[in-house]
Amino acid sequence: MIQAHKKAYLKTYGCQMNEHDSLRMRSVLERQGYALTDDISSADLVVLNTCSVREKPEHKVYSFLGTIRELKHQNPDVIIGVAGCVAQQEGRNLLKREKSVDMVFGPDNMFKLPDMIERVQRGQRVLETKWAERDERRVHDFIPEEELERNTVDGCKAYVAISKGCDNFCTFCVVPYTRGRDISRRPEGIMTEVRDVVGKGGREIMLLGQNVNSYRADEWDFYTLLDAVSRVEGLYRLRFKSPHPNDWNDKLSDLLTARASICNQLHLPYQAGSDRVLLEMRRNHTVDEYLAKIDYLRSINPGVGISTDIICGFPSETDAEFEGTLEVMRHVRFEHLYAFKYSERPNTLAARKIEDDVPEEVKSERLQRVLDLHRTISEEQIDAFVGQTVEVLIDSAHPQERGIMCGRTQGDRPVVVRDASLEIGDLVNVQVDARRKFSLEGVPEIEPS
Ligand code: SAH
Ligand code: SF4
Ligand code: F3S
Repeated sequence: MIQAHKKAYLKTYGCQMNEHDSLRMRSVLERQGYALTDDISSADLVVLNTCSVREKPEHKVYSFLGTIRELKHQNPDVIIGVAGCVAQQEGRNLLKREKSVDMVFGPDNMFKLPDMIERVQRGQRVLETKWAERDERRVHDFIPEEELERNTVDGCKAYVAISKGCDNFCTFCVVPYTRGRDISRRPEGIMTEVRDVVGKGGREIMLLGQNVNSYRADEWDFYTLLDAVSRVEGLYRLRFKSPHPNDWNDKLSDLLTARASICNQLHLPYQAGSDRVLLEMRRNHTVDEYLAKIDYLRSINPGVGISTDIICGFPSETDAEFEGTLEVMRHVRFEHLYAFKYSERPNTLAARKIEDDVPEEVKSERLQRVLDLHRTISEEQIDAFVGQTVEVLIDSAHPQERGIMCGRTQGDRPVVVRDASLEIGDLVNVQVDARRKFSLEGVPEIEPS
């Protein structure tokens, strides 16, 4: 039943997979007659889509739930839902602990929102954390058929989930427990969705999975899928996140290099620069194996941008081992880098077996050294762009400055373009003539007539 004029407040923590899930939930809620609001005090429904990958984002959720208790006190009719990875991890405990919460549901249950809301309206408290069914080949169409043409194009960009969950069980990581087993979607559903978002003006797609390159369904692997999606007419740019180094190979590097629509960028997390630490983390590769894959890609494609994730202060990591992490940074010179202090997570092997023995101040100091080195490298990289021409996909108008449009390079670097005639979705070559703090600035190249 459509309930007109209801308002929903939807807050998202965590990764792109969660952002995508929130867009899906938004679409479901809009069809139920809810309009999204930024004003929580006027909301009839509040959904927190949560993340538990590190302690910090999980804490943020609990402190926000404090605010919500107050909200529920003032308006007992407001429906409060907790979704995502903390919901999956805590399940019933969350319902017991937070009396203001009406529904707790994991990522596999988000399409049941209309039913869950109705149950709450009938006076129930709802818990939905069961995993979706799948077949023995680890294949499952977890985006239902009726939702395939309801994905959201945001500006000119869209996410398309190709797989979910993870079987790697890296010892530090909670994701296999919050997102379940590694399951791929059938190619037909993915391709239908890709064509649909491109038809709706999507010019850039990011394929999503916890481990995208372990994709396997109906004789297709990640190579087959990347090849097929990158050929879809009207799609300018294809990205994917996250690939795992173990499932990356030179053939994929060849495809990334040869195919113009696949962004000339690779996000390949390496976490630590010591073979012993990598073994403890259960990453199943050595530093040299990682670097050999990067070096091959660079050898055929010198302009490729590489980005990564790093953990500082994994239990038992010594100062000398940490130096290896910096060494890899100097060698690869990452374009983007996401670094985190190790944070013990419930259920993980590291939490059960290894003492979190690196002092907090040592973790902080290591993180600072990573960030400082990255800043130096980044500054040099940004400066080197001035005077160059870069390809930019225009994705928005500048929020404050009139006549300025914003976009991104293939390497996902922000660019401001001084040309008011440009439109969202335009792909232009921009002559970079200045830099701002983290972004480039320029004008479109004049095409020869
Ligand atoms: N599937 C991706 C990573 C997903 S989690 C991959 O394997 O590369 C995103 C990042 O969070 C990880 O790459 C890691 O750097 C970081 N991370 C995960 N668990 C963490 C923990 N317990 N402490 C600190 N950082 C962590
Ligand atoms: Fe976590 Fe490792 Fe899986 Fe990435 S590959 S999601 S770090 S278990
Ligand atoms: Fe966080 Fe879950 Fe993503 S733990 S990083 S929201 S998969």
